[in-house]
Parts: sequence; structure tokens; C-alpha cells
Amino acid sequence: MTSAAPASNAPSTGTDSASTATSASAQDVAREAARRRTFAVISHPDAGKSTLTEALALHAQVINQAGATHGKAGRKATVSDWMEIEKERGISITSAALQFAYEDQVVNLVDTPGHSDFSEDTYRVLSAVDAAVMLVDAAKGLEPQTLKLFRVCKARGLPVITVINKWDRPGLDPLALMEQIQEQIKLVPTPLTWPVGIAGDFRGVLERRTGEYVAYTRTAGGATRAPEERMGADAAQAREGDVWAAAVEESELLSADGADHDQELFLSGFTTPVLFASAISNFGVSSILRTLVELAPSAVPFRHGEEDAEGRPLEVREVTAPFSAFIFKVQAGMNTQHRDRVAFARVCSGVFERGMIVTHAQTGRPFATKYAQTLFGSERGVLDTAHPGDIIGLVNAMTLRIGDTIYVDEPVTYPPIATFAPEHFAVATARDSGRFKQFRKGIEQLDSEGVVQVLRSDLRGQQSPVLAAVGPMQFEVAQARMESEFGASIRLEMLGYTQARRTDAASAPTFAAVRGVEVMERTDGTPLVLAPDKWRMSVMERDHPDLVLEPLIAGDR
Ligand code: G4P
Repeated sequence: MTSAAPASNAPSTGTDSASTATSASAQDVAREAARRRTFAVISHPDAGKSTLTEALALHAQVINQAGATHGKAGRKATVSDWMEIEKERGISITSAALQFAYEDQVVNLVDTPGHSDFSEDTYRVLSAVDAAVMLVDAAKGLEPQTLKLFRVCKARGLPVITVINKWDRPGLDPLALMEQIQEQIKLVPTPLTWPVGIAGDFRGVLERRTGEYVAYTRTAGGATRAPEERMGADAAQAREGDVWAAAVEESELLSADGADHDQELFLSGFTTPVLFASAISNFGVSSILRTLVELAPSAVPFRHGEEDAEGRPLEVREVTAPFSAFIFKVQAGMNTQHRDRVAFARVCSGVFERGMIVTHAQTGRPFATKYAQTLFGSERGVLDTAHPGDIIGLVNAMTLRIGDTIYVDEPVTYPPIATFAPEHFAVATARDSGRFKQFRKGIEQLDSEGVVQVLRSDLRGQQSPVLAAVGPMQFEVAQARMESEFGASIRLEMLGYTQARRTDAASAPTFAAVRGVEVMERTDGTPLVLAPDKWRMSVMERDHPDLVLEPLIAGDR
């Protein structure tokens, strides 16, 4: 993996670092880092991500009444709704991260896009979090998008908590779901709760650690926090009879099969704790929060520097080291009144204080955060400082690109974030050749934000770069933004490639000579081999075992 890799899942103990460039002591930083739980919810669209996000916030008592963020119709208004809530309650919610305190911990829920066409954005978010909650629709089981993201988590060694959602509705057999996870993702599911009653006739869950029964109470439309009734095994047996006995029996079978939670195996990405929930009625949501707080790792130190034989960076920057962060998302036009450009950074070490001067590792230039006010704004004083695990939004940080590092004092450059293999390719040309300057500027901007990848070759020339995307909707976004923001309407001519692999300068000419195949260079200098299908790629791989033809993301073949 080339993404900024967490060094380990163990909380950093921290050393006394005199050079920590803020007023906070190393112990303070270590303590704050240990309180952080930074995670993303990932799922196939419609599995209930927005509903769960809102329910989590509700349970953390951020939002008193569900409904503020939920629902397709209100989706577009979500951010502004949240902004309003944010003002009212003085909490920090942005389109990038929702932060709330839960008991003694600080939870950072980093947003991921809903549509699979933007899964590359999701992938970048996964490089900035310490754990993921994978949401699965009980009726649909593992869906393509879920599988892809699950594999990414596994490749990164990111601990994953699985939530089987919509258990209030008819769905698959829970044991069959466990089998799917084990077989298709090769993660051992270790259920923390087990459903009592089949999907659709959901009575509650058996909490496997305590043996207690948490009964499910339906609420009208899930509008308020659902009361969860807790009772011992005897009371559960008396109340539910055979259904309870069946759940206990299945739970024992799971234990006999080694499906019990093991913290070390979870943190190293071998097992996944599973919870059953009905996000819409807020059932099981407190267990999810509790699991996050108790089991998910705190802010982990990140690695950088030269790589070992497995491609893992060798050096570790402890969370108590001076401030450092890396950019995992750049978004323009978040505020339609000012055409701003916000760079979102994950704090990896030290303390961020608004106004501090940081160094941009890629250019070596100073960067004044005084002018680049944090997105969280002045009245939201809690985020005038940020600690390891937190997400900061830097406004109008024009020079910052995805994957870039900022730091103070001790230099560090985190490795670039790996990119997904694009599956759609189109030649872009300016409709009005007189506006080529705007065209070039726009393409450069979209490239730096990761809206699309931009490929070039001598053969095609500068006038007609190839835009590469994981999902076709990225092209729509690119086209619309080229026109509205840069006044440079573009024509797209689709190419017949569906596959891309990384190669090197020495291997490139051989692949470029294969019929139906093309080699183009990405902006970061990586030469990519483009082929129409998997079959053609496999043939090249077989014919030239000595040449470089690697998947863009480890294991993504
Ligand atoms: P997404 O962000 O992952 O795309 O999913 P979202 O939360 O929008 O949920 C998708 C649909 O699934 C919504 O219904 C939502 O109400 C429903 N849903 C979410 N969680 C549960 C659950 O636990 N049980 C049941 N039965 N349904 C759930 P919709 O009809 O598309 O939207 P809406 O009209 O209800 O807002």
C-alpha cells in the first residue's frame, strides 16, 4: 500500500517531546490522541449510511430529533441543515467530518460519498481514518460496492466493524450472512450481538459478551431515541421462549466455531465484530457507539519514509511529534457565494492551532493558516485547535493537493494516497478552441481535486488529455464544472478501455506496441497501460512476466 499507513493499531504512549510546537505538552497530546476515534461509515448506496450517521449523532445527543439529515429528499440540504444545527448547538459538523463527544472520547465520523461512482473519494477517506464501519443491508447481503471497499480496508489492515442494518425488515439468514463475510472477504466475523427473532420479526439482540437480552421496541418512524430494554437470560427466556433459546444455541455454535471477539485479531484486520441494527428505529445504535469507543483504535501514528520489502514505510511519526497532517480531500465550491477551495487534512501528530504557520512538504513553502481559517469557523472555538485523529478544513489552500503533507518543525512527507484503477476513459477537448487557457486551468484544477484522473501522451498531445474515472458520473461532474466554473465547455469522446495498470518507463514501449493497447502518463508521472478488457491484460502479463504490469491498488486484480 502506498497510502499514508498507520504505524500500528496500538495507542501511542508518547514521549516527552520538547519540540512539540504548541503550548500543549506531549502528555496532553498523547491523552487527546488516545481519546480520538476516527472512522468512516462505508456501504453500498441505500444500505442506510445517512440514517445511521444521523442515528449515531442522535445517540451521542448531538441532534435531539432525528430527521435533520435523513432522507433522500433532504439529502441535498444535509450540509446546510447540519450547518444550522452546528450553529445552534456549537458542535462541529461539516460535509467532511462530524465530531462529537461520547462519554470521555471524541468521535470523528468522516463522511464518504454515497454513490459508487465516487468510490475513489471513499478510498481516500479510508486513508485518513483509523477504523471503518461497514454497513450491510440485511436483505441484500454483500453488494459489489461493499465488497470492493471491504477489500480496501483489508489491504490497509484497517479494523472493520460490520453492522447488519434493516433487521426490522425481512432479510437473509444471519448465519448465511456470516458465511458470506467469511467466504467473500476472508474476514472472520465475530458477532458481538446476535439477533433474537428472524429478520422481519426482530425481537431484539442477545449481547454475547454479557449473555443479556436487549429487547427491541418499535417507535413511530424512529423519530426519537428508541428505548432499549435490557434483561437477564431468565427474563428473556420467559418473554421470548423458543426464539430466545434458538438465539442462545446459535451463539454457542458461533463460540464453538471460534467466532468470538479477539481484540488483537480485530485490530490487525483479521476479524470483524458484527452488530445487528435497525438504524431507522435507532435500535443497536448505542451498541455501535459503545463498540467504537471500547474497541476501535485511538488515533494511530502514521508511517512515512522509505519502504520495506512489503512496501510498508519504515519510519513512524509518533502522535506526540510536532504537528503534521496530510490532505485527503480537496473540494471546491462548498460555499456558492465565494468560490472557495477547501483542503481537508487529517491531523497525524501534534496539535493544530489556527493561525500557525506550517510548511507544505511538497514545495517547502510556508503556509499561513491564519488566512486559511479552518472551516469550522471562529465561533466554533472547539476547533481552533485540533489533535491527532481530527479533521481540519483549510479554506483557499490553493497550493495543497490530495496526498500532500503539512508540518511544523521536524520535516515529514507522508506517502501519496494510492489511486483506484479507472475503468472509464474519455478524450476531452475544448468546444471553443479560443478558450484553451481556461480549458487547461480547469482540467488542472479537476485533476488536483481528484474529480477525474488526467492522462497524457505525446501521441495525443496537450490539446486533448484523456480523462479517466472509476465511475461515469465523475465525467458528468467534470463536464458541468468545466462549463460553470471555468467557462470552458468540453466535448468527451469515450474510449473503449476498461482496464488500467501501472508500468514503468522500461516496460512501457513493449506494452505500447501491443495492438489495441495504449500507454499514457498520469500527472504524477506514473505510466499506465490501458487495455480494453481483463483478458488482454492477463495475456500481456503472461507474455511478459519480467516486465512491470501492476494493479494500482494492491490485490485489486
Ligand atoms: P444511504 O445513505 O446508504 O444511501 O441510505 P439511506 O440512509 O438514505 O437509507 C436508504 C433507505 O433505507 C431509506 O429509505 C431509509 O429510510 C431506509 N433505511 C435505512 N435504515 C433502515 C432500517 O434500519 N430499516 C428500514 N426498514 N429501512 C431503513 P427511502 O425510502 O429510500 O428513503 P426515505 O423516504 O425513508 O427517507
